[in-house]
Amino acid sequence: MAKTPRSVKGTRDLLPPDTAVWAAVEATAREVFGRYGYREIRTPILEETELFVRGVGESTDIVGKEMYTFDDRKGRSLTLRPESTASVARAFVEHGMASWPSPVKLFYLGPQFRYERPQAGRYRQFHQIGAELLGDPGPWSDAELLLMLVRFLAALGFAEPVVLLNTLGDEASREAYRKALVAFLAPHRETLREDSRRRLETNPLRILDTKVPEERELLAGAPRLADHLNAASREHFDAVRRVLDRAEVAYRLEERLVRGLDYYTRTVFEITAAGLGAQDAIVGGGRYDRLISDLGGPEVPGIGFAIGEDRLVDVLPEAFRRAAAERTRALVVPVGEVGPAEALALAEELRTAGAAATSDFTGRSLGAALRRADKLGVRWVALLGDEELAAGEVTWKDLETGEQRRLGRGEVAAAIAAALAGAAAGGREGDEAAGGAGEAGRGPAGEEHGGREER
Ligand code: HAM
Repeated sequence: MAKTPRSVKGTRDLLPPDTAVWAAVEATAREVFGRYGYREIRTPILEETELFVRGVGESTDIVGKEMYTFDDRKGRSLTLRPESTASVARAFVEHGMASWPSPVKLFYLGPQFRYERPQAGRYRQFHQIGAELLGDPGPWSDAELLLMLVRFLAALGFAEPVVLLNTLGDEASREAYRKALVAFLAPHRETLREDSRRRLETNPLRILDTKVPEERELLAGAPRLADHLNAASREHFDAVRRVLDRAEVAYRLEERLVRGLDYYTRTVFEITAAGLGAQDAIVGGGRYDRLISDLGGPEVPGIGFAIGEDRLVDVLPEAFRRAAAERTRALVVPVGEVGPAEALALAEELRTAGAAATSDFTGRSLGAALRRADKLGVRWVALLGDEELAAGEVTWKDLETGEQRRLGRGEVAAAIAAALAGAAAGGREGDEAAGGAGEAGRGPAGEEHGGREER
């Protein structure tokens, strides 16, 4: 027998009711980012491979081993985007956005693809919500972007997200540091793992975020990046910190934070969430002042971040999740001689009033209809019998309170409106009642893929 098709390893279907939660997260991003003047950009999922080789960098894991790259029918090398900053930079140059009012503030939502080993919180198709600010080199923009990020997380109910912050300095500082680090590590070359030995040649700074305990021990005595910053780099970073203090954005200095993409200069940051295990970064970002010119565009600096939406949803505070998943739904049940046509008409009235309504057309018994209502998790059942129909009324059961009463058809709309207004107010209260990122439980979805066969 033919094998049953399954979703490709490392990809997954998002199903209801989870999709309602995803949609609510995305609506919140649109709302908050919009308030900071960001507008949406949608770039293609397919790009020329060359874009990521030049933009993200040849020595990175992403370009070296994680890209979905293939030749199209005419032999052009194309890649499913592993991230979107390079695409946004390409679009900036392609559409001459340097002539738009500066800075250009853009956000995006959508799937990204990396051929990584799937595990909890790590997928081959994952989703990012990102923002890029192009055209301003100053520390105020770094701070405003981080402020927006923190406000977004607060709107989802995360209490006090802490930004892990570092600076890589400008190119001159980084080059000076690279030399010092290589000089320090070279005598220990033989004790390093293969990955780190390779990085010693290609990208020594990445060795700093090694997870190998012996390497971490060795690095404790390594020269510090902070000691190799030139005056301009140090001043920029000090200014960013001053502005963050003033805006009351909580951050922690993280000397070892170097990020895995080559385009970063100066400010870099991440946000991690407890309860996510090894894949605990929910946001990564930083400044990339040379990316646009490296892609052949004008000298335009940029800074941005991308949030891993899959991981974000996994640790979402329960209040937001509940408010998002809750639908105010009604089930119309015709009783006795009342037929589907009348049920359909009533359901339509309820929809006009703002409820999500379905009708039971099957003519099953009242008991069976109520059991179905319970399974569907509806809030209200509207019973429509001959008597109700003749009187222009419905029997209105609120399954949440257990209350049952006869209402005129016109009064039903008012009852729904009152309940919806209550739900909206409750939802807003939920936003304020924040739980820390670490307190929320993990969704089950992330675990599933870890068990499948290797590669
Ligand atoms: P990144 O750190 O590679 O940065 O990715 C950002 C976030 O995407 C990560 O913190 C993580 O939450 C999520 N993510 C990455 N890989 C996976 C995966 N395999 N499965 C699930 N989630 C994942 C960037 O992509 C940069 N473009 C960010 C940026 C924007 N920098 C400047 N502007």
